[in-house]
Amino acid sequence: MTFVSRRTLLKSAAVLGAYGTGLAVMPRLSQALAASDPIEIEALTGDVSLDEKQPTRGVMRYALTGQPSSDPSPPILRAKRGDAFKARLINRLDEPTTIHWHGIRLPNDQDGVPFVTQPYVYTGDRFDYAFSPPDAGTFWYHPHCNTLTQMGRGLAGVLVVEDDRDPVFDGEVVLNLRDFRLGRDSQFIAPFKPREAAKTGTFGTLRTANWRQEPVYDVPTGGLVRVRILAADVTRIYNLKLAGAEAQIIAIDGHPVPERMALDMAVVSPGQRLDLAIRVADREGAEMVLEDVRPSTAKVVARFRAVGSSLKRDLGDLGLLAENAGVDADLSNATEIPLLLSATAESASRDSICGTLGYSFWAINKVPYPGDTPDPTAPITELKLGRTYLFNVENVTPHAHPIHLHGMNFKAVASNKRQVQPLVSDTYLVLPDEKVQLALVADNPGDWVFHCHIIEHQKTGMTGYFRVT
Ligand code: C2O
Ligand code: CU
Repeated sequence: MTFVSRRTLLKSAAVLGAYGTGLAVMPRLSQALAASDPIEIEALTGDVSLDEKQPTRGVMRYALTGQPSSDPSPPILRAKRGDAFKARLINRLDEPTTIHWHGIRLPNDQDGVPFVTQPYVYTGDRFDYAFSPPDAGTFWYHPHCNTLTQMGRGLAGVLVVEDDRDPVFDGEVVLNLRDFRLGRDSQFIAPFKPREAAKTGTFGTLRTANWRQEPVYDVPTGGLVRVRILAADVTRIYNLKLAGAEAQIIAIDGHPVPERMALDMAVVSPGQRLDLAIRVADREGAEMVLEDVRPSTAKVVARFRAVGSSLKRDLGDLGLLAENAGVDADLSNATEIPLLLSATAESASRDSICGTLGYSFWAINKVPYPGDTPDPTAPITELKLGRTYLFNVENVTPHAHPIHLHGMNFKAVASNKRQVQPLVSDTYLVLPDEKVQLALVADNPGDWVFHCHIIEHQKTGMTGYFRVT
């Protein structure tokens, strides 16, 4: 159920009018997915007004064929757990692309990594993806080719996998958080600075949620609202707080948490997702503010405003989310795999049709990944189908790395830096000097990429892959 008040729609239509298509405003509710026909996702380039000053040229965006929208931000895709999801990527960019379905456990040839799992999709070409998502929750989709530019210019959207058994909320807000790197003339500037890529990564200049600055969403007074948050930025780690309402964390990285916890401050790093249940205040007009408090000065991410008379709901009334499969690791028979995250002085970067930044700054087990090339390096290691592994990830750099595994989930079991919760996930933020053990069962055959989700780190060496046979 999506709560979109007429007022919000009309207001956003007015705000977005600058690049509107002149067509009627269409609320982007779930697309009914007929089992047989794929949705068609076009990747295209155009002008979009992002900073509310003047149009930015060369924005890359996704649009659904036949579903015109006045909102240029990436459409929210919806799938149902266990049902076939079919999507046809149509490439209308001037360069090759692919779609990776981040966090979805799917067959290897649907994973969207050029040269590793599929050929890149050239300008004018299409590629049909099909899979049945086994887990319900908040996931996302983005390219895996020229990724810094393509994601930096806009390509990254939310994929919601629904389960009919989930509790019904009084409203839902999906927040796709990211920055754009624009100059004072509203145009894109260089996507990175080498000296920043060798440190935390280069930050954007314009913070947005759903491609808007500090957007306001109407929510039902006294109601229970599900907020699905995606950190889609190529660099920024968010420390999120909510002022003005009671909120609980109900899922992290797509997976329901074993025990709901009150939201105090949540760290959400590139690639990660956070699902909140918010109990809206009882007073009509009350405002709730989602803020990012990292590193210290609070920045408004989005606001929620209570509308209507109070529904007088209670967070305690909220049923549990339908469970996802856990990580059924047999720790007494686990094979340990050392994974060292370090800087490198070795230069490995090779030219690629999927873009190169031209530098190697980072390595996994001392090997800097050369980039998206037809002959990537050997796998980090081979994993035996069905076996349990313990990834001993050690970060010997002074920077945090949100490390992401494709195709399989893991759970953190121990860390030298903090008390870890055994949460099921696909992305773990490894702190400076942290040693963390991630347990997983190699239950999905194929070549699965493992990389830092700070895209400059990914593209300058901090990438590798595992071969599961
Ligand atoms: Cu979200 Cu390999 O990426
Ligand atoms: Cu990194």
